[in-house]
Amino acid sequence: MRFPVTRLRRLRYNGVLRAMVTETKLSVDDFVMPLFVCSGTKVNNPISSMPGNSQLSVDLLVEECKNIVAAGVKSVLLFGIPPHKDEDGSVACEHNGIVQQAIRAIKQEPLTRGLFVIADVCNCEYTVHGHCGTIVDGDVENDLTLVTLARQSVSLAEAGADMIAPSDMMDGRVGVIREQLDANGFYKIPIMAYSAKYASGFYGPFREAAESAPKFGNRATYQMNPANTDEAMREVELDIAEGADIVMVKPALSYLDVIHRVKSEFGMPVAAYNVSGEFSMVKAAEANGWIDGPRVMMEILTSIKRAGADIIITYHAVEAAKILNARSY
Ligand code: PBG
Repeated sequence: MRFPVTRLRRLRYNGVLRAMVTETKLSVDDFVMPLFVCSGTKVNNPISSMPGNSQLSVDLLVEECKNIVAAGVKSVLLFGIPPHKDEDGSVACEHNGIVQQAIRAIKQEPLTRGLFVIADVCNCEYTVHGHCGTIVDGDVENDLTLVTLARQSVSLAEAGADMIAPSDMMDGRVGVIREQLDANGFYKIPIMAYSAKYASGFYGPFREAAESAPKFGNRATYQMNPANTDEAMREVELDIAEGADIVMVKPALSYLDVIHRVKSEFGMPVAAYNVSGEFSMVKAAEANGWIDGPRVMMEILTSIKRAGADIIITYHAVEAAKILNARSY
């Protein structure tokens, strides 16, 4: 049936009906809020390129987690800024490492212990050179790096992390981490693998936030070429075979096609990382009065879910949760 019998606007005239036929609905259950933890006490270093986000010492991080819980967000992803760095990222494996301390503090505080704490696993925040692994002959050595990644993962699980999220892009890391977690009794701890992680300019603000910019070269020998999607499918397939429980696409916005393809080809739980640069662009345009920030934020998050993401890691998490909580469609 065609016009005038069929009129698609009939379902758009009434707000209640529009809400009833809404295909994609965001929920606070979808969100993960990334946080940056640094040493000291009462430290709050605002990250200039990411308005509203700061490096926080453990005490203030726990306070921030209370706000996150109050907004209804149920999960956080932790990144550490350690007091000192080394050649191979061993500082990230210390019992009293900065993220280990943060996890214990969150789990000790009655108001925040229910938060689902995801620990990012990577070496770039912990190495003096800023690369994601151990350097041999001027490049990251894959198999040596697997050793520190597995140690870091076990240490974070011991501290109480609820899920481990390797973001380094070394070959074989999911399998090695799974094996070491299991060997240490952590068979219940899932792995969310940054499977299709692209070498992206959108990470710029994060590298200021996490003090993790590489001191030489770039990450093109381990992160993916933004032009490739078949290769992303191979990465995802291998990570699933090695034991990944959730697969991630990162960044999100320029890679919605990849999110869609991963979801439709594998039918796995898919996470998407709405990264720092994607966040900062919205904030910058909003500050200039060029866009309606909250509206664009909700549109972006909806598009990521519509593409096929089950989990959205986003610096907008708390702000978006407040809008969802207040929304009366
Ligand atoms: C590093 C890591 C990065 C991000 C998460 N983990 C940056 C990088 O690869 O340089 C980026 C997150 C963001 O931009 O928000 N292991």
